[in-house]
Amino acid sequence: MDHATPAIYFQGLEKRFGDLSVLNGVNGQINRGEVVSIIGPSGCGKSTLLRCFNHLESINGGQLLVDGMDLARPNLTRKQLLQLRAKVGMVFQQFNLFPHMTVLDNLTLAPRKVLGQAAKESSRMARFYLDKVGLGAKGEAYPTNSRGAKAAGGDRPSPLHEAGHHVV
Ligand SMILES: Nc1ncnc2c1ncn2[C@@H]1O[C@H](COP(=O)(O)OP(=O)(O)O)[C@@H](O)[C@H]1O
Ligand SMILES: [Mg+2]
Repeated sequence: MDHATPAIYFQGLEKRFGDLSVLNGVNGQINRGEVVSIIGPSGCGKSTLLRCFNHLESINGGQLLVDGMDLARPNLTRKQLLQLRAKVGMVFQQFNLFPHMTVLDNLTLAPRKVLGQAAKESSRMARFYLDKVGLGAKGEAYPTNSRGAKAAGGDRPSPLHEAGHHVV
């Protein structure tokens, strides 16, 4: 994408669930490298807006361009959606880590499968981010409070969720 193209642009964005109008003509632009917080009361549509950005929700009206891709088009192909989702990550409020995989495997799965990163490179990146958030010792632990977490000396109830936050 060229630097003049906004990362995300939306104009008159509308999203309804049946009779419930959740997004009613929302406008905004987020430029490349910009960090933006969306704040508002519970139920006002923050998550719905985010879900529209990677087409987890289809929109009912208005314009929505993500990295120049027109998400208001009705017939997005599977290939286009995969291209979009390789670039747009979303961390859910529930963490959804795979319980049978170590933290490191959870963190490297998407970079390896979606971006085609080599195992060594994705492990290096994952360890870098784990270290950054003080979880460097947790790479081989499992996301639950089971054997792995204990073996790694985990003393917080769900320390690995924080790791998921930074990489998923
Ligand atoms: N899939 C859905 N079907 C029906 N209603 C939904 C759905 N998703 C969200 N809503 C409703 O849309 C509104 C906005 O939800 P949401 O975007 O999750 O709000 P927020 O993230 O700001 O708390 C709420 O009233 C919620 O109940
Ligand atoms: Mg929400």
